[in-house]
Amino acid sequence: MKISVFGTGYLGATHAVCMAELGHTVIGVDVDATKIERLAAGDAPFYEPGLPSLLRTHVASGRLRFTTDYSEAANFADLHFIGVGTPQREPDFAADTTFVEQVVRDLAPLLPRNAIIVGKSTVPVGTAAKLQELANTGVARGLQAEVVWNPEFLREGFAINDTLDPDRIVIGVANANSEGEQVLRRAYAPILERERACPVVVTDLETAELVKVSANAFLATKISFINAVSEVCEAAGADVTVLADAIGLDDRIGRKFLGAGLGFGGGCLPKDIRAFMARAGELGADQALTFLREVDSINMRRREKMVELTSRACGGTVLGKTIAVLGASFKPNSDDVRDSPALNVAGMLSLKGANTIVYDPKALANARRSFPTLNYAESALEACAGADAVLVATEWREFVQLDPETVGAVARGRVLLDGRNCMPSDRWCNLGWSYYALGRG
Ligand code: UDX
Repeated sequence: MKISVFGTGYLGATHAVCMAELGHTVIGVDVDATKIERLAAGDAPFYEPGLPSLLRTHVASGRLRFTTDYSEAANFADLHFIGVGTPQREPDFAADTTFVEQVVRDLAPLLPRNAIIVGKSTVPVGTAAKLQELANTGVARGLQAEVVWNPEFLREGFAINDTLDPDRIVIGVANANSEGEQVLRRAYAPILERERACPVVVTDLETAELVKVSANAFLATKISFINAVSEVCEAAGADVTVLADAIGLDDRIGRKFLGAGLGFGGGCLPKDIRAFMARAGELGADQALTFLREVDSINMRRREKMVELTSRACGGTVLGKTIAVLGASFKPNSDDVRDSPALNVAGMLSLKGANTIVYDPKALANARRSFPTLNYAESALEACAGADAVLVATEWREFVQLDPETVGAVARGRVLLDGRNCMPSDRWCNLGWSYYALGRG
């Protein structure tokens, strides 16, 4: 099939590459000419495991190309995916749908024949219907562009796998006999024809839009739940990690997303729960989601608690102390530093007078751009050299596997702060390190 993907960020670029991998001919479109040039040269503009090789393969095979020219995409494809950003709007924290709307406004008049427009961006409920109106008024007389909603659930770090082997495919349509649904099923046929194919949930546009934000709100709530319990564990002298293992054994609960620690960050969860609350308010259902405000504040509190714990571990103040912060990305296997708890903590420590030295395996360049006043090192050991305390803020495998003896040989103090409850504490304690973690009494 001939497919276009508008937006070449984490979502759009991954989707374009994966559609080519499924056998389609794909054109990726973006307004950012630099990004397009890099992608066209087979160079991924962000870190995502597995993406560079698939990108190079399909650019080389000619199945994937990139452009800034909307009319090229309009003429080429019959199925147009939209994966542009919906950033947080100031001051009401609602999602800004300007970019999504602009794609439809610009694309619709250029369409030479009937087409299907598939929204993948995370949007406030009601956006798809509005986009259908924009499409209706934009297309040339006699043509139709059906808007379908197909939310994306990919996680950074697992984006390729989540796209090619999803848990479910949700298709939101306005009418029961939607051509868009059939076209989308054909596009995903290689996934749906597998022996153990994932379920397809076909629903109305509004439900499809809400599925995405509800899923993210649930995940955020699960993380904040365990972090709230973690605060009680701290007060009571209990261990939240063992508690999470124990409650996670209940099938109805499950252990995933019960990782207590610095909490959630990134470009999705924090923004999506705020946008969800804002939209519920607009719809007159604001009371329904007030608990998400608490979910948000529990999460933000973790960062302050981490700073307090670090002060305590450093003898009451971090002023004049050198702290190695291991991790800058919001989670491992990503170079994304948007709303990163790790960098937030590093920034707060620095404001309190600590000499903070940050290291991350992939996110250093992005971190330097966002927090230029922090100090950065080129390796974990370089960051730890002369440090009074070592703070693990992102659970990269490289940090979990650090050798306490080697780190101890270069650090000034043997103080380990585990912001993600990911370090093998016994190993470090046996070698004379003082171990501090959130929720571990
Ligand atoms: C999320 C959703 O998982 C994905 O389905 C959606 O499409 C986009 O948003 P992502 O932002 O890539 O994906 O990251 P995710 O793996 O969900 O982690 C989000 C944050 O929660 C990270 O900062 C992570 O460190 C944190 N987290 C995750 C915890 O603090 N504890 C956990 O147990 C799990």
